[in-house]
Amino acid sequence: GTTLGAAAAESGRYFGTAVAANRLGDNTYSTILAREFNMCTAENEMKWDATEPSQNNFSYGSADNIVNRCNQFGARMRGHALAWHSQQPGWAQNMSGTSLRNAMLNHVTQVANHYRGRIYAWDVVNEAFADGGSGARRDSNLQRTGNDWIEAAFRAARAADPNAKLCYNDYNTDNWNDAKTQAVYRMVQDFRNRSVPIDCVGLQSHFNSGSPYPSNYRTTLSSFAALGVDVQITELDIEGSGTTQANTYRNVVNDCLAVARCTGITVWGIRDSDSWRASGTPLLFDGSGNKKAAYQSTLDALNTG
Ligand code: G3I
Repeated sequence: GTTLGAAAAESGRYFGTAVAANRLGDNTYSTILAREFNMCTAENEMKWDATEPSQNNFSYGSADNIVNRCNQFGARMRGHALAWHSQQPGWAQNMSGTSLRNAMLNHVTQVANHYRGRIYAWDVVNEAFADGGSGARRDSNLQRTGNDWIEAAFRAARAADPNAKLCYNDYNTDNWNDAKTQAVYRMVQDFRNRSVPIDCVGLQSHFNSGSPYPSNYRTTLSSFAALGVDVQITELDIEGSGTTQANTYRNVVNDCLAVARCTGITVWGIRDSDSWRASGTPLLFDGSGNKKAAYQSTLDALNTG
């Protein structure tokens, strides 16, 4: 393959990117998007604050622009994210108890229903575990509605869109030895044992000096896959530049290709200047849209894998 998407497709995988609606009018951006990628994730536009700005008042314009554009050039969508402690609309932020639980479930149901049949995989629940060594759930207004909020969200999503794959998505779950990774693993194992509907685990994989690419990343991917779920690399970016960065991108791709149920890779933006990281050069294209060394190593790995 001569593009990331085409090369990934040769092994039945996808290669995606986060897409920002307000950049679709940028010609350099939209040219690279349509040429290279066959999966899209809305970077912010499908989140709770964007899609339900006031309670029961749904707003899909920016998200629909991304879906329509990506479908035009033949890319599918990952949905991100139905239930999350962050980027909640103001009206939800201070809710609690049964009213918050019901508002969350209504949100999951309405948004999944709106996009029914158009989403390959939903991040149903995002970032529900605490950082550090506790292995505990993250404290949040959603968690305080009861420990079963996650499975309730998955059941609501399954009912609303039975054909979408339903994922649990998190960061710092890349190193197999980390307490957070083990805690997510045990939750997924428990869900599988009790037939809670879950189909996939997303590893965001934002790698930097504080949370570097771990040498046991392939073990993490294959261990989750052995639970009977797909795994996806959902928000990849890698701090650095030049050959070092290119080699890490290559390693990540090779790890995914080595795991049959690693179904695809998404980078969290197109050009370095599109990255959520205020400084740094974590992506595959420079600010002018030129291919970086990391682009070439990624493409080569997809092709030789
Ligand atoms: O839309 C407003 C705009 O009206 C306002 O003028 C501007 C001023 O700051 O802010 C705009 O909102 C920003 C939004 O991005 C859209 O650009 C928010 O401040 C900013 O916080 C928000 O950041 C996003 C971040 O999630 C929020 O948590 C990033 O773009 C997005 O890349 C990032 O993505 C997350 C994933 O969803 C989950 N995993 C981690 C990843 C990186 O943080």
